[in-house]
Amino acid sequence: MAIAFNRREWLKTGLLAGTSLPVLQPWQWLDHLRESVPGPSGKMPIRLNSNENPFGPSAKAREAVMAALDEGNRYPRASITKLKEAIAQKEGVGIDQVLITAGSTEILGLMGLIYGLKGGNIVAGDPTFDYLMIYSEIIGAHWKRIPLTKDKYFDLDAMGKAVDDQTRLIFICNPNNPTGTYIPKAEVQAFCERYGANTPIFIDEAYIEFTDGGVQNSLMNLVSDNPNIIVGRTFSKVYGLAGMRIGYALGHPDTIRVMQQFCMGRMITPSVPSMFAAMASMEDIPFTTMTVEKTIQGKQIVYDFCSREQVSYIPSHTNFIWFEAQRFRGDLVKTMASKDILIRSYTDQPGWYRVSIGTPEDMHQFTAAAGLELV
Ligand SMILES: Cc1ncc(COP(=O)(O)O)c(C=O)c1O
Repeated sequence: MAIAFNRREWLKTGLLAGTSLPVLQPWQWLDHLRESVPGPSGKMPIRLNSNENPFGPSAKAREAVMAALDEGNRYPRASITKLKEAIAQKEGVGIDQVLITAGSTEILGLMGLIYGLKGGNIVAGDPTFDYLMIYSEIIGAHWKRIPLTKDKYFDLDAMGKAVDDQTRLIFICNPNNPTGTYIPKAEVQAFCERYGANTPIFIDEAYIEFTDGGVQNSLMNLVSDNPNIIVGRTFSKVYGLAGMRIGYALGHPDTIRVMQQFCMGRMITPSVPSMFAAMASMEDIPFTTMTVEKTIQGKQIVYDFCSREQVSYIPSHTNFIWFEAQRFRGDLVKTMASKDILIRSYTDQPGWYRVSIGTPEDMHQFTAAAGLELV
């Protein structure tokens, strides 16, 4: 009885009533099932659907993980602190300005929770990496979706104009997923200086290392002076540690303190081996340099194919490319999957596909297979 009563009360609060919980789309579960088992050809699929780094983990990260096993019986507090110190030193901030989580997805959820908890709205471009907004919509906030410009860039003017007295947070993913577009630092900084005085702004920099100039393009230089600016980063992309689950936020000490209070896993969600892998990867500059160079090579293979075959695409500042469906027959995601090459499309973005950049060999296989599907 008690359970039934609580459930009714819960529904009455409106937390769930009127909001639809996101359901895993067929492509999502199919992708996830297909990823780690041999496909129709009997071979393991080429995974170009989740913007992973095909070269990771680096040899140094692997060694570090093996060494970390000795501490697998201990809570990760000490190793989290060590990684925090290493990040704080690298970024030139205090240790109290770093929050480490099990992947940056955890930070996005945390942001969605903190800023969506009291309703209001979150201003963000559309399409973008939507997890923060989806999470906050579940608990009652509204995503004010600001369409991208026709070139698929964030419309910062329109985003600024959309801010009202109900806006709890502005979300900027730079470079953006799924478009791969990047707005120069100076422009986003000017936007943050204008709107960040009164409104919190979260900048998701998951792909910043792939931009020309790399982390120099980060807006983390704003976080020490303005508690409203928070930056999110990840070890999943250029460091090749997506499966190890390590992300971090950089912010003002006051903001990080609030975020820590909301952490659901008491700030010990990252594992000891992950922390060791992250520390080793941060020092492995040749690995990240190689990743960026190979990604540029891989992108060029796709660009050349697109130019040759008149497939429109958006020049990318990331490790993936968004391209138009028009020149292909049928559903390219399905056809490619039948050839054991996984790419992605979005139900709310018909007419576009996203391909992640794998090894140059992967990209040759992708373009050869895609070339057979041209109309
Ligand atoms: C823009 C962006 N932010 C955050 C994430 C989450 O990454 P992770 O949780 O692996 O750090 C992703 C993953 O693809 C992403 O594309």
